[in-house]
Amino acid sequence: MPRGLMMIGVIALTAWGCGSATARGPTLRSAGEHAGRWIGAAVQAGLLTSDSDYAGTLAREFDYLTAENEMKWGPIHPEPDTWNFAPADAIVEFAEAHSMRVKGHNLVWHMQLPGYVNTEMTADELRATMEEHIRMVVGRYRGRIVAWDVVNEPIAENGRGLRASLFLDKLGPGYIADALRWAHDADPDALLFINEYGADGLNAKSNTLFDLVEDLLHEGVPISGVGFQMHLGYVFGRPPATVRQNLERFAALGLLVNISEMDVQIKNLPGDLEARLAAQAVTYHDIVADCVAVPACHAVTFWGFTDKSSWIDSFFGDDDPLLFDASYKPKPAYFGVLDALQGR
Ligand code: XIL
Repeated sequence: MPRGLMMIGVIALTAWGCGSATARGPTLRSAGEHAGRWIGAAVQAGLLTSDSDYAGTLAREFDYLTAENEMKWGPIHPEPDTWNFAPADAIVEFAEAHSMRVKGHNLVWHMQLPGYVNTEMTADELRATMEEHIRMVVGRYRGRIVAWDVVNEPIAENGRGLRASLFLDKLGPGYIADALRWAHDADPDALLFINEYGADGLNAKSNTLFDLVEDLLHEGVPISGVGFQMHLGYVFGRPPATVRQNLERFAALGLLVNISEMDVQIKNLPGDLEARLAAQAVTYHDIVADCVAVPACHAVTFWGFTDKSSWIDSFFGDDDPLLFDASYKPKPAYFGVLDALQGR
C-alpha cells in the first residue's frame, strides 16, 4: 500500500476525532467523518479568542485546521534568531482542545518571506537557512501537526516548468526534494504535500505538477500527496470540469490528494444575490463530490469559513466566497457541501 494511504489508515484507526451529529442534525464535521474525509478551514489565531461565534462555529463544523498565515516563514521566523511561535501554538492548542487535526502551511513559498531571506544570500546560506527553518518548525510540532504543505506554488504561472523564485534561482530544482527530505527527517510520521493553485483541473500547470511529483517518486523523495487550492470565481476563473480526472491521475501514482484552500467568488455571476448564492452552492457541491468520489482524496479545506473574514475581500474586492455569512449563518454553499459529503 502506498505510504500516504497506509498513514491515513493508521490515523483513522487510532485518532479519529469526535464530531457526532448534533441534535440539530449533521454538521460538516460529522458528515465528513462518515464520508472518511477531514473537513478543514484556514483560521486566524486572533479570532479564536476574540470572537466566540467564530470559535464556536469552527469547533462545531470542522475537524482539520490550517493556519491562514501564522506558520508561514515570515510570520513564524521573522529574524534569523527570532521565532514567533505563540500564534501558531494557539491554533494547535485550540485544535487539540477540540479533537481536531492540524495541517501546517507552509514551509517554502516565494511569498510572505522575512527580509533576511533575499537575493543577497549565497546559495549555501540560503540552503542552510532553509534547512534550519524547516527542521525547527516541523520538529517543534512533531507528532502534533499531522500534515505539512512543504512547498507551496512551485509551478510557473504559465505551466511551463518550475516557478522562477529565489529558491529555484539560487538552489536549482533540487530545493523541492531537499525541503521534503528535511521535513520528513524532522517528523517521519507527518504527511508531506506539495500545494498548488490553478492546477485544479487538467491543464498545463497540472501537467507540469504531475511530471514533478512523478520524478520525485522515482527518486524516492518522501512525498505523501498533492493539495489543490481551488480558489474559484471572478479572479481565478470558472470551476474546471476536469477536477475529478485530475485528482484521479495523481491518486493513480499512489498519492493522497486534497482540496486545500477552496473559496468561490460570486461577484461576477449573473442574477441577484439569491441566484449567485445558488450557483456558488452548486460549485461547492460539485467540487466536494469530486473529492468524495476519489478514495485518495482525504480532506477538503476551505480558505476560511465566514464571509466576515476572507482574504478575497482585501485582495480582490468585496465578495461572499465562503460557507457561512458574516453572521455565521450557513449559506446555500454550506448545504451544498453537506449534501456532497452525504453522497447526495
Ligand atoms: C493568503 C492569506 O489568506 C492572506 O491573509 C495573506 O495576506 C496572503 O496569503 N494561496 C496560499 C495562501 O497558499 O497561503 C494564501 O493565503 C492564499 C493563496
